[in-house]
Amino acid sequence: MSLLIKNIGCIVGIDESGRLSVAGEAMKSIGTLDNAWLLTEGTRIKEYGPMSQLPTGIDCKIVDAEGGWLFPSFCDSHTHIVYAGSREREFLDKINGLTYEEIAANGGGILNSADRLHDTSEEELYRQAMERIDEIVAMGTGLVEIKSGYGLTLEDELKILRVIRRIRENAPLEVRATFLGAHAVGRAFKGRQSDYVDHVCNDMIPAVAANHLADFVDVFCDRGFFTPEETARIIEQGAAHGLRAKIHANELAISGGVEVGVKYGALSVDHLESMGDEQIEALKGSNTIPTMLPGCAFFLGIGYPPARKMIDAGLAVALASDYNPGTAPSGNMRFVTSLASIKMKMTPAEALNAATLNSACAMGESKDYGSITRGKVANFYITKALPSLAFMPYAHQTPIIKDIVLKGELLV
Ligand code: NIG
Ligand code: FE
Repeated sequence: MSLLIKNIGCIVGIDESGRLSVAGEAMKSIGTLDNAWLLTEGTRIKEYGPMSQLPTGIDCKIVDAEGGWLFPSFCDSHTHIVYAGSREREFLDKINGLTYEEIAANGGGILNSADRLHDTSEEELYRQAMERIDEIVAMGTGLVEIKSGYGLTLEDELKILRVIRRIRENAPLEVRATFLGAHAVGRAFKGRQSDYVDHVCNDMIPAVAANHLADFVDVFCDRGFFTPEETARIIEQGAAHGLRAKIHANELAISGGVEVGVKYGALSVDHLESMGDEQIEALKGSNTIPTMLPGCAFFLGIGYPPARKMIDAGLAVALASDYNPGTAPSGNMRFVTSLASIKMKMTPAEALNAATLNSACAMGESKDYGSITRGKVANFYITKALPSLAFMPYAHQTPIIKDIVLKGELLV
């Protein structure tokens, strides 16, 4: 049934141009309409306008926003939501001074999560992941990418991807799946990294593709993990099987991941805590979206990506949560925009553009998601009345969401 939302204090995130991303200087502005209504039809946005022209005589359910604001749902283009248990022991190690790399070298980190995942049933994994999905839906996310990468054996990688497919079939939000077999070298291949890369390329990717379990392929291209050459092989094999690349790059060091991502036309290169001028230069003129995950820098206590430099260089940057047990145990996209403003000096409008249209673009989905545009999927949330746009990232823990609409359905 159609929904007519009336008495909206302000619609934020309107785009009438149909652009697929917003770059550089243009990120500073975001389309708004005060004192407005919005109408959905089926799963899509049909029309919107000023309250002075409120349509009448339409057969629809009416929702009174009572002056609350309407925002496009967050698009979270980088998460690892399907994992078993939690890793707060490593959190304590970190408090006691160990680095992320030291923890990984001691058998913690990704391998620790892989062991737990192996011992957890598919049903239980789904149950735990759905709790996290409910949490992010309640915080305003409407489109999410979820990676595998805590399996590291063919069987366990397929297990995670089947859980992601089940989430996709049952959750109210839209889901995209990424195969991240090259997240770390699986235990059975210890000391034989190149054999593991062969296994990823020759066995895992074909099996994932044959079962239609992923949209994208990812590689952790970083110091101590996979090299740019290995990353290139995996990207090429993914491409041969219809999987576009999204690359973990430059979290721990300038890794060559940005350059290899750009060279092979990756949809996005993500993390970017370590960035030099050459890496920013490499991104110019490409369609690869630089994606920042400030929740990870916050949690690990490392430097933040140079967002200002990238935007000032004219790039279309995105923001995502990286929701995972080791470096970002939160999928709160509003807090991500707050960190972007507080720690990376992005304006509220820049942060919102990065967390909606540009992050949809980082999943190749901005034609249908990421803004309030006629014909796009009706994914939005309605807040309490707000004093200004800046209140969102400023009062970062104040609950503000009153109603959520996903695919045209009002969630209760
Ligand atoms: O994006 N950097 C690689 N992968 C995850 C962390 C994985 C983990 O520690 O469990 C990330 O930060
Ligand atoms: Fe990640």
